[in-house]
Amino acid sequence: MDLINTIRDSIRAIPDYPKPGIIFRDISPLLQSATAFNATIEAFAQRYEAEGIDQIAAVEARGFIFGAALAQRLGCGLTLLRKPGKLPGPVVTERYALEYGEDSLELQETAFTQPQRVVLIDDLLATGGTVAAAAKLLSRTQAELVEAAFVITLDDLPGEQKLRELGISCYTLCR
Ligand code: PRP
Ligand code: ADE
Repeated sequence: MDLINTIRDSIRAIPDYPKPGIIFRDISPLLQSATAFNATIEAFAQRYEAEGIDQIAAVEARGFIFGAALAQRLGCGLTLLRKPGKLPGPVVTERYALEYGEDSLELQETAFTQPQRVVLIDDLLATGGTVAAAAKLLSRTQAELVEAAFVITLDDLPGEQKLRELGISCYTLCR
């Protein structure tokens, strides 16, 4: 089976979680399968290993899992975009709306004070609010956002279109 089918087959759909009408895409089986987790990191690595990436920027919490493994695989650094109140020192903050709530993200002001080629990573693209906020944080630094990368894009939500309209190119392993 190719990498993408291995990944797709390992994602579980949970209806009506965490709210009625939401189909939650559960990555737990993917992470519990050494084959599927490795396929995910390999698929990202194949796309980025020749791209001269300096840093992976990863979104809390599920983005950290893939971001950390990919940074290790590519031999580059990892920068954390965190939920409020988690990062010490001066931070920049962006609020955003979610498919089922609202939240904000923070980035340390000491990140990306030199030009660096960055891939922004998260597990899933839904409305695009999270990654739009993350990209806005990066745009306040010297980071050069190469692409936003996802394991899953929900095609019935406007996230990808929203990011493209903001000039952010997107790469996804599964739809
Ligand atoms: C989920 C998911 C993405 C975001 C996608 O995170 O991991 O980060 O929602 O939604 P959007 O495209 O509509 O912004 P969540 O905030 O639920 O947090 P978690 O990773 O901590 O579980
Ligand atoms: N984050 C936002 N929407 C989601 C969904 N449908 N499944 C899993 N994570 C999500």
